[in-house]
Amino acid sequence: MFDVAKVKSDFPILSREINGKKLSYLDNAATSQKPQVVIDAINNFYKNHNANVHRGVHTLSEEATAMYEEAREKVARFINARHPEEIIFTKGTTEAVNLVAYSWGRKNIKKGDTIAVTEIEHHSNIIPWQILAKEKNANLKVLSIDEEGFVTGSLQGLKPKIVAVSHASNVLGTIQEIKDISREAHLEGALVFVDGAQAVPHMKVDVLSLDCDFYAFSGHKMLSPMGIGVLYVKKEILENMEPYQVGGGMIKEVFFDRATYADIPGRFEAGTPNVSGAVGLGAGIDYLNRIGMENISEHEVGLLNYSLAKLNLVPGLKTYGPTDVKRRTGLIAFTLEGIHPHDLASVLDTEGVAIRSGHHCTMPLHNKLKIPATARASFYLYNTKEDVDALLYGIEKAERILKR
Ligand SMILES: Cc1ncc(COP(=O)(O)O)c(C=O)c1O
Repeated sequence: MFDVAKVKSDFPILSREINGKKLSYLDNAATSQKPQVVIDAINNFYKNHNANVHRGVHTLSEEATAMYEEAREKVARFINARHPEEIIFTKGTTEAVNLVAYSWGRKNIKKGDTIAVTEIEHHSNIIPWQILAKEKNANLKVLSIDEEGFVTGSLQGLKPKIVAVSHASNVLGTIQEIKDISREAHLEGALVFVDGAQAVPHMKVDVLSLDCDFYAFSGHKMLSPMGIGVLYVKKEILENMEPYQVGGGMIKEVFFDRATYADIPGRFEAGTPNVSGAVGLGAGIDYLNRIGMENISEHEVGLLNYSLAKLNLVPGLKTYGPTDVKRRTGLIAFTLEGIHPHDLASVLDTEGVAIRSGHHCTMPLHNKLKIPATARASFYLYNTKEDVDALLYGIEKAERILKR
């Protein structure tokens, strides 16, 4: 295991006080904080190496290009992709889903085809497919989940063209059995798109062993900057995909009546990319590798056990998600009888505790659970039992103030 106090000291923002109280940052599923090494990597890029990539022959441009491509290699190794060309830099998970729905979807989805999503998906993994289905007169099939969030809906006989599923839920924490879903989907002749926004930051992900065709995640949820994300696509599929956006940087030859496009991955990165973001992501990955993804998962399971045991003792408090902590990531959505999650979050803020409240971009899931909103505490490698204690103290305070 690792020294959490040492890890915490690597994140400057975590020494801040909020409303006169020590900050307990428990909103990591929304975005994580950044260690000094990531801040330094971005700073170093702009201070010493800033230039556009894949364009100039001067030294700075070559340095910037090398740093950008090195980041791509780090990402590929981190998720065990076979080739760096299978990694496309995007703005984040949302852009990655839109890219696939637009580029792969418009070419491959035809009238009457089926696109499968699940009841647990984030809006980002629903709406692009919904629009594609409407545009193509295709069917959007919603696979059901059980109470713990595991996909139960069968693909057998459905013959979908694509199955879009999250690896880990941003509300229930549920970790889906992606290997099984991939096997079943492939037997049906479907491709598999995995939204890994809540998985890659918290556990070891191996896209080869998952055997998914597409895998997306966001840098900002894994210690890295906002505005940089990743889309992994199996090479043989990517090579046959049309560009998503067009313009500079993604072409071979341009005439007024036609253009030919660059090889992968450049074909999918039109315009000046977020180079400092990619460099920052590389530094974030280095940091996560130094700590070890298995250690991070284990640390979060420890916090989950500690907090679930305490939260479940609070009268009127209901937690959601799998009972087996090994099958969920380090977050807990909950409701507290008689107190709206937004009011709870406001009182917690007075104690320096940052949580999220609302529908967390999963309205269909909340409709299924028959609740308008939940409060959500989400952990990461720098969180401690003291943060959980501060959360519990804040909950008691909210009950004192709001239930009078
Ligand atoms: C499961 C899931 N998918 C997709 C997203 C969208 O990620 P981004 O806003 O970084 O594009 C999120 C972000 O909260 C998420 O939790």
